[in-house]
Amino acid sequence: MHLENTGGPLAHPGHELNRIWWDEVTPVHAGSEFYDMDGFLKGKTALDRLELDWLGDVAGKRVLHLQCHFGKSTIDIARRGAAQVVGVDFSPVAIKTARDLAVKTGVADRVSFIESDVLKLDSVLSEKFDIVFTSYGVLTWLSNLHRWAEIVAKMLSSNGKFVIVECHPTMMMFEWKNGKIEHKFGYFHCEEGIVIPPMPDYADRNYTPVNETREWQWSLADVFRVLTKAGLRVTQFEEYPTCCFAPFQNMIECGDDLYRLPDGEPSMPMTFAMEARF
Ligand SMILES: C[S@@+](CC[C@H](N)C(=O)[O-])C[C@H]1O[C@@H](n2cnc3c(N)ncnc32)[C@H](O)[C@@H]1O
Repeated sequence: MHLENTGGPLAHPGHELNRIWWDEVTPVHAGSEFYDMDGFLKGKTALDRLELDWLGDVAGKRVLHLQCHFGKSTIDIARRGAAQVVGVDFSPVAIKTARDLAVKTGVADRVSFIESDVLKLDSVLSEKFDIVFTSYGVLTWLSNLHRWAEIVAKMLSSNGKFVIVECHPTMMMFEWKNGKIEHKFGYFHCEEGIVIPPMPDYADRNYTPVNETREWQWSLADVFRVLTKAGLRVTQFEEYPTCCFAPFQNMIECGDDLYRLPDGEPSMPMTFAMEARF
């Protein structure tokens, strides 16, 4: 399968702005220590302990990976024995990098990548999958969560499972400023979203992208509501005090490539994970 974008506009003008941002940062990410491409090419996993636990055994499964970035986790799923893995992302730069990486890692026979806005995926893909997976830094880019849940439900086979491991919306309310964690954003969704000016990139703090982004906060209730409305049942849900990166500079590594707040700092949910089925 080698499908391109439908060529039409993305699902929202803010998505165009964000796609430009992702095209800009993807080469920086691919060369960064954070994404550790050398380690990955030598066989190091791209998925952390939480993602692996929630995905479960992927051997022989057909897996759809939404917002796959440049494909490391998608390829990791194939390396773990999945029969077929399809990664989706709206950044042509990310998709090109992902396709090259699939060839380099020898999994191109089982992995393919589709360039598409996730909210318009049903215009280019009509297959069903045993697992639909998405993780870390995905919902904030989406202008319409009802549409996202509809896509998830459309792509999921009747006995399949949807798995999301995502940055917690509570953590997204705060930023590191003046040497401490400061309350910056509201918890609840607002339709127009928030314009985020250029700031040091999460994967390479020495790089500040030229472009701004438009992002949307989605509460946990929003996530539950849209999935339920799309016909899915949330079968497992959990919150964690760890994150796969360090959004606040006082966070410390605590093993398994995860970070937590130091002892003495009041706790905060950093990650949530959810499984949903029909
Ligand atoms: C933070 S990354 C995903 C994280 C992934 N787990 C990783 O660490 O590699 C977010 C991805 O979402 C993609 N993205 C953002 N908005 C999108 C949209 N509307 N449709 C498809 N992809 C989108 C970006 O291009 C980017 O590759």
